Amino acid sequence: MSTKSAELTTRFTNAGLQFDEQAGGLVRAVFSGATAAGELFLHGAHCAAWQPAGQRSVLWMSQLSYYEAGKPIRGGVPICFPWFGAHATDKAAPGHGLARLQEWELKSAQSLASGGLRLVCATELAPFQLEYAVEFDKQLKLSLTTRLGADHPTPQRFEDALHTYFSVSDIKSVSITGLENRHYIDKVGQVAERSASGGAIVFTEETDRIYPQSSESCVIHDPDWQRQVIISKSGSNSTIVWNPWIAKSARMPDFGNDEWTGMLCIETANVGSDAITLEPGQQHTTTALIAVSDLTSQ
Ligand code: BG6
Repeated sequence: MSTKSAELTTRFTNAGLQFDEQAGGLVRAVFSGATAAGELFLHGAHCAAWQPAGQRSVLWMSQLSYYEAGKPIRGGVPICFPWFGAHATDKAAPGHGLARLQEWELKSAQSLASGGLRLVCATELAPFQLEYAVEFDKQLKLSLTTRLGADHPTPQRFEDALHTYFSVSDIKSVSITGLENRHYIDKVGQVAERSASGGAIVFTEETDRIYPQSSESCVIHDPDWQRQVIISKSGSNSTIVWNPWIAKSARMPDFGNDEWTGMLCIETANVGSDAITLEPGQQHTTTALIAVSDLTSQ
């Protein structure tokens, strides 16, 4: 164990947290409690695992993820901030912003009465201060709070996304409800606005959609695993749904060629026309709450 992992283990031992390091030297917090197990990397404040007791793991991780400073982790919950996708003007700027590439500080780890754990991480990305609270419990609660300093001279705009990767039994047999009545921006091929489909989302090809003005909950229906995953949210007006399918998977070096069959992303976000503008001294919190409904016990 490195000095940093050992120090953190000593500091947070009361909360039942252990720390270790991946090959690339990234420090990981590992929790195993009565209601859930979870993992969080300080690199990007990246939640990499959540498994409610008695359930399968809910978050998906790529077998080919990088675990290196300067590179995003593939899977779990990357935090996209302060921009989503490509930077509006700077082609050299990294996709999905800087927050997922940055080392965050673990501020606190607090046991919950339920037996779960609440972690709070923080970082700064000028001119914003970020705080990220993660609760590993029967439900997974992720809350990203962005503050603009009171002495900042002008309002500032940002985009954010809790880019959650979910494990599914088979992408061809799952569906998503909750967005039936929402129009969307289709990012596959020529970017185009499409009207609401009226039906559940099913996956038959590369899917990359931004649903603006969508604050409702979504449900992943996974009949083969006999479970539903319910994603509720607050402070988020955009939802992104993504599966790279065959060709895009093959183009991504940190994504296995066959891994697209076992994952999908539903992202809790504020992007494009839903981007947030903060006045000096203001703050905004984007929250995702994820729960599993086990249909075998009903
Ligand atoms: C999604 C985008 O949010 O993230 C996709 O809508 C993108 O277009 C995907 O491919 C993964 O992005 P990245 O930068 O992590 O490879």
